Amino acid sequence: MSEHKQATWGGRFEHGPSDLMLEFSESVSFDRRLAPFDLQCSRAHAAMLRHIGILSADELREITEGLERIARQIESGDFPWDRSLEDVHMNIEQALSKAVPSAAKLHTARSRNDQIATDIRLFLKWACAELMRRLDRLLSVLVRLAEAHTELPIPGYTHLQRAQPVSVAHHLLAYAEMFGRDSDRLNGVLEHANVCPLGAGALAGTTLSIDRAFTARELGFVDAAGNPKLTRNSMDAVADRDVLIEFVAVCAICGIHFSRVAEDFILWSTAEFGFVDLPDAFCTGSSLMPQKKNPDSFELMRGKAARLQGDLQTLLSLQKGLPLTYNRDLQEDKPPLFDAFDQTSNCLEVLSAVLEGVAFNATRCRKAAADSLLQATDLVDFLVAGGVAFREAHRAVGELVALAERRETTIDQLDDSSVSAIHEGFGGKWREHLDLDRALQSKQGYGMPGAAPVSNQIEYWKQRLANAAGPASPPDS
Ligand code: ARG
Repeated sequence: MSEHKQATWGGRFEHGPSDLMLEFSESVSFDRRLAPFDLQCSRAHAAMLRHIGILSADELREITEGLERIARQIESGDFPWDRSLEDVHMNIEQALSKAVPSAAKLHTARSRNDQIATDIRLFLKWACAELMRRLDRLLSVLVRLAEAHTELPIPGYTHLQRAQPVSVAHHLLAYAEMFGRDSDRLNGVLEHANVCPLGAGALAGTTLSIDRAFTARELGFVDAAGNPKLTRNSMDAVADRDVLIEFVAVCAICGIHFSRVAEDFILWSTAEFGFVDLPDAFCTGSSLMPQKKNPDSFELMRGKAARLQGDLQTLLSLQKGLPLTYNRDLQEDKPPLFDAFDQTSNCLEVLSAVLEGVAFNATRCRKAAADSLLQATDLVDFLVAGGVAFREAHRAVGELVALAERRETTIDQLDDSSVSAIHEGFGGKWREHLDLDRALQSKQGYGMPGAAPVSNQIEYWKQRLANAAGPASPPDS
C-alpha cells in the first residue's frame, strides 16, 4: 500500500492506491505521446481562464512559462515521467505545480475527461493530416510509375486467370484511386475531429462562466470561416470515441489496399510471372537457400493489414455496451489508436520507397499480355459491331477457342476457312482484332485502359496533387 495519497484526487481517501493498482492503471507509459497536445490544450485553457478573470496576467505568464519549460524538458527527454501519477495529464500538472504556485488554478472548470477527449481530437487532426501527406507521396510515386509505363501491356486478371490486356499504368492507377479515397476518408475524419470538447467537464460542464468559443479558437477548432466548433452535448463529448473508430477504420481500409498491392507485386515477382524485379533494399535472403530473394516488405504489409483490423476490432469491442458517460475502459483506446497510426504511416513510407525501386520486365509483361486468348472478348465485340447478336457472337468465339484447344494451337494460328465455318461474320479481317496494341488502343472510353483515358487519369492525379495542401505541421510541443 502506498503511504502517499494521490496528489490530484486523494482528498477523500485514507490510503493511496496499492503498487499493484498503480502499475495496473497507469497509462503514462503510452499516453505520454499526447504530451504536445496536452500542453497545447493547457495553454489554451489557461489563456481562457485569464480571459474570464480566474487567472491574473501574472499567473497566466507563470503558467505559460512553466508549460514551456516542461515542453522543452519533454522534448529533450529529461522529463521525469512517473507511473505513479497515472497519466500524461497528471504528470504534467504535478510538474507544473512543483514549479509554479498558480498551477493549482489550472484545472479550474476542467476534467481529465474533457481534457483527454480534446487531446485525442488534436492528435487525430494532426494524424489525419500526416497520413494524408504520406498518401500524397505514395500517390505521386504511383503516378510517376504509371507515367513511365503507359505503353507497357500486362494481362489484367479476374479469378487470377488471364482476362484482358491492360497497361501497367492502368493497373497502377487503380491503386491510386483506392489510396485517393483513403485520403478523402481521412479528410472526413478530420472534419469530425475538428470539434472542441473542452468545457464538457467531467460530463456536465461547469457552473463557472467559461468561454468555450475562446478555447476552441485558441486550439484551432474552427470552420472555414474561422467560427469556433464546439461539441453540442457535454455527455457525448466525454463518452464517445467514435471518431477514433472512424480513424482506425480508415487505417484498416488502407491496410486492405496495402495488402492488395503487396499481393500483386508478390505474384508479379515470382519466376512464374516474372513481371517485376523488386529492389534488393526491400527484400531479404534465405539463411539456407542461397538463390532466394524474398519479398518481405510486401509480405509484412499484407501482415500489417491483419494487425490494423485487430486495432479496429479492439476499439469497436471496447466501446460496445458502455454506459454513458466516461468509463475507465476508454483508457484502452490509446494503444490501438497509436498502433494504427504508426503502422499505417510506416506502410505508406515503405510502400512508396519500394515502388520507387521496382523494375518492370517489359519482355515478360508483353509476352504474357500477347496471349491471343486475352483478345477473345474484343473478337466478340468485332462480330457484334458487324450486326451479330452478342450471345451468338460469344458462342462463336467460344467455339474458336475450343477449336484452337483441340488443335493444340492458339486462336490467331487458326486458318480462315475453319474460322469462317464457325461463323461467316468473322470474314477476312478477324485476325487483326487479335493484335495486342490495337486491343489496348481500342479501349478509349472514359475510365478505360486506352492511352487517352489513361493519360486523363494521370492528368487528374497531377492536378489533384498540385492542389493538395502542404506538409502537415508537426505537433508543437
Ligand atoms: N487516462 C485517462 C484516459 O485515458 C484520462 C481520463 C481519466 N479520467 C478519469 N475519470 N479517471 O481515459
